[in-house]
Amino acid sequence: MNRYATRPPLPDPLKRLAELATDLWWSWNSEGRRVFRRLDYNLWRITAHNPVRMLWLISQTKLDAGIIKAAEVLPDLKDEALALKTWQQLVQIKGAPEALTARIVRSDAAKNFPPTMLKAALRASREQGKKTEGLTAALTSLTGTAAKSGTADPGAIAAMLTGIQQGGDPAEGERIYHRAALACTTCHAIGGAGGKLGPDLTSLGASAPADYIVESVLAPAAKVKEGFSAFSYTLRDGTSMSGIPARETDKELIIRPGPGPEVPLVKANIVKREPVDTLMPAGLIDPLNYTEKRALFAFLTQLGKAGPFDASKGNVARVWWLHGTADASKVLAGTAEGGMPVYTHVDGKIERDKLAETAGVVSDGPLLASTKLQVGTPGKVKLDLLGIREAWLDGQALPVASEPSPTIDLAAGPHTLVVKLDAKQLPEAVRAATSEGRFLTE
Ligand code: HEC
Repeated sequence: MNRYATRPPLPDPLKRLAELATDLWWSWNSEGRRVFRRLDYNLWRITAHNPVRMLWLISQTKLDAGIIKAAEVLPDLKDEALALKTWQQLVQIKGAPEALTARIVRSDAAKNFPPTMLKAALRASREQGKKTEGLTAALTSLTGTAAKSGTADPGAIAAMLTGIQQGGDPAEGERIYHRAALACTTCHAIGGAGGKLGPDLTSLGASAPADYIVESVLAPAAKVKEGFSAFSYTLRDGTSMSGIPARETDKELIIRPGPGPEVPLVKANIVKREPVDTLMPAGLIDPLNYTEKRALFAFLTQLGKAGPFDASKGNVARVWWLHGTADASKVLAGTAEGGMPVYTHVDGKIERDKLAETAGVVSDGPLLASTKLQVGTPGKVKLDLLGIREAWLDGQALPVASEPSPTIDLAAGPHTLVVKLDAKQLPEAVRAATSEGRFLTE
């Protein structure tokens, strides 16, 4: 994706972006568009020249670009009024609060944001109310006013346990878990689908007692899951980086600093290693009200128990990659890059609201959603498709209009299922299930 390497370098991209930010943000002004086209031509094309969509995609796939760059240049705005104006525009961009939240919770750099900027950001975020509650929480925790991550009030845990027993709607809790603002899915997977920085939560409710689960979220540092301890590594050149060690070779230690790419550290350059709390941020669910918290915990404690929240089977699609229609042929062939993931509920459904949240960023109209199916033994496979009017398997149109559960002959190996959706007319829910084989989650 480094296509722009062969193009002239950006003049001073950070400075440029900061200027654009104070202007009309980078909405539709032609100068702004030129910068974005050069930032990543491929993505620019895929997103149909929409800077906002492009920034969202970049923030999903590249840690050091787009909104992230914007977040890095914002601290340079010394003028308080200007900083506030900039943030007020920034938080209104669709997808930007979520991208910024994800960035803040995963980055050490955010801890050094200057107070002027933090104040402006927090105020702009609070002004948006519920819409940006995740960002507000993340910013609040940076100002140090949030609860310390290492301690949970035993009374609060006990009260929550009673609350869960008295009632708490796990289905509602599942919707809350999937809210982009909480960022749970960027770090955790269920049924293999989701982020890999934190533990897979598939069997959480079956393997861990409820008080442990509540404490894990209210005070993530209280008990750190084995194998997920994080360390801060100081390097010979004086820089430092925190992460969870993933594996090592003779010469390198490979760490996971966040939900994004892994980073190799040359062992000979590491001069100090110190334990750090945990990479799971504290205060994530502070913006939720009591009923919402209770519902979330009701869901987490059900995960893996026999019943509707058993995600151990692979018979339903658990992740869909959303793409615009510009690269339709690649999407149909299963070779398109840069899609935006949407994770399904345990039962395989994605409901309209969640779909709209992500779909709206990719396209205003038609879009393609793809997923992969692995077949073990060749033969007849029945697909059950819900809310889907047009679909292709390995590029071949399926007769879904007349037959919502088509049976097809499939060879052993991976197959690509693509469905067409319209952001303007999304179905109540989308789901794909198979009688044979299993859906892939990578
Ligand atoms: C920035 C990444 C990140 C985000 C966002 C995040 N977590 Fe975590 N989570 C982790 C890591 C890393 C661990 C393992 C270390 C630990 O136990 O503190 C963890 C541990 C947990 C555990 C304990 C699991 C076990 O098996 O011990 C639970 C439960 C949990 N997270 C739930 C959540 C929920 C619910 C959300 C959303 C509100 C969330 N997490 C958001 C990174 C994250």
